Amino acid sequence: MTMRVAVAVSGRGSNLQALLQSLGPSAPARVVLVLSDRAGAPALELARRHEVPVEVLLDAADGSRWLAALERHRVDLIVLAGYLKLVPAAVVTRYRDRILNIHPALLPSFGGKGMYGQRVHQAVLASGARESGATVHLVDEVYDRGTILGQTRVPVLLGDTPERLAARVLEAEHRLLPAAVLAAAAAGKPVTLPQPVEFFS
Ligand code: GAR
Repeated sequence: MTMRVAVAVSGRGSNLQALLQSLGPSAPARVVLVLSDRAGAPALELARRHEVPVEVLLDAADGSRWLAALERHRVDLIVLAGYLKLVPAAVVTRYRDRILNIHPALLPSFGGKGMYGQRVHQAVLASGARESGATVHLVDEVYDRGTILGQTRVPVLLGDTPERLAARVLEAEHRLLPAAVLAAAAAGKPVTLPQPVEFFS
């Protein structure tokens, strides 16, 4: 049975693109809905081009709006792909252990409220860390706290800027997130990835 996936986005949508590319017609999972808290998010254009239904949440903190859309599209799994707000508690409760998030660093470091996008990479560089990476984890009521399912490590290189590091991590994200969704589809629920997905560009 195909796993029906909703992807929540706030911005550009490159992770959504990676998912759409990986989840072709014969894949065991399919993107059936794209949710966003921002009507102007470029990711929504991408969804429309792929003829995926789009739902803009006028009040992203209102769990009943989420749940109505998720039920209407019979969603099995929610994937946060650059979604920057907290998921309402009612949604976390209803979809417990069936919500994934991709984060652009090696959690539990460099996560939490306000840690998104370039801020994460600036913090990694400021810390002097020798490596960074991407993390896929389950979503609970607290930002970036849920069980880690898989990580891909990338090196921090001499002379890195936040932009260069972000680009290296993003490439890792585009492999890790589809791998996590495909593993969830194969198992019928999100699972720990069998081994760290190592990738160096
Ligand atoms: C990605 O790097 C994702 O990991 C990050 O936002 C970016 C979205 O890019 N998410 C967070 O920082 C969440 N804390 P995209 O819209 O091109 O997929």
